Amino acid sequence: MDQNQLKRLVGEAAVDYVAARVTRDSIIGVGTGSTANCFIDGLARIKDRFAAAVSSSEASSQRLAALGIRVLDLNDVSEFPVYVDGADEVDPGLHAIKGGGAALTREKIVRSVAQEFVCIADASKRVPVMGRFPLPVEVIPMARASVSRALRALGGDPRWREGVVTDNGNIILDVHGFSITDPVGLESEIDHIAGVVTNGLFARRAVDVLLVSNAEGVEQVKRS
Ligand code: 5RP
Repeated sequence: MDQNQLKRLVGEAAVDYVAARVTRDSIIGVGTGSTANCFIDGLARIKDRFAAAVSSSEASSQRLAALGIRVLDLNDVSEFPVYVDGADEVDPGLHAIKGGGAALTREKIVRSVAQEFVCIADASKRVPVMGRFPLPVEVIPMARASVSRALRALGGDPRWREGVVTDNGNIILDVHGFSITDPVGLESEIDHIAGVVTNGLFARRAVDVLLVSNAEGVEQVKRS
């Protein structure tokens, strides 16, 4: 099975996971990226079994709407049971790096309102220690140089993702060279740099359930 087939497989498994937990008035949190797109496409087959979605990007909102799924503004929602999204790396403690698609800030906001974060990934995303995938950091444009200096002082090698503007009008720095053995500490440290909007570590509020696909099928891993 190639990676696209593995993404489709885990996207469908997430639809089954959600279908078993929703009622007609449920709202579902929906993430961003190619794996999340497989989930969105699969959601269409159960769209009469839940009320609406909240989404972590303009792209996902458009994809949901095109499938006839109602999309609510997060400001109109106080809580919902499940947020389903992909990841760039996941470690054994179910901490994740996200933001390869530059949607990390809205992803973290939507995740913060969800009772449960269900992460969907193919097996290539599981790593013993995160950091080979460069850590995305969303930054206010005027702070690009000052934040880069602060990230260098933490031992990283930040590179500007030129040409990319987030849905919030900001820029992304991709930080190479970290070996992330203390994801909770690093998440907090980077968040405290002036000019940082969000960093792509989901560690203080990590993944609750990981659905991970490989050639044998989909494994479910729960955070202990
Ligand atoms: C977008 C994300 C994505 O979930 C992450 O980059 C994984 O993407 P894909 O499923 O395309 O591999 O965090 O900001």
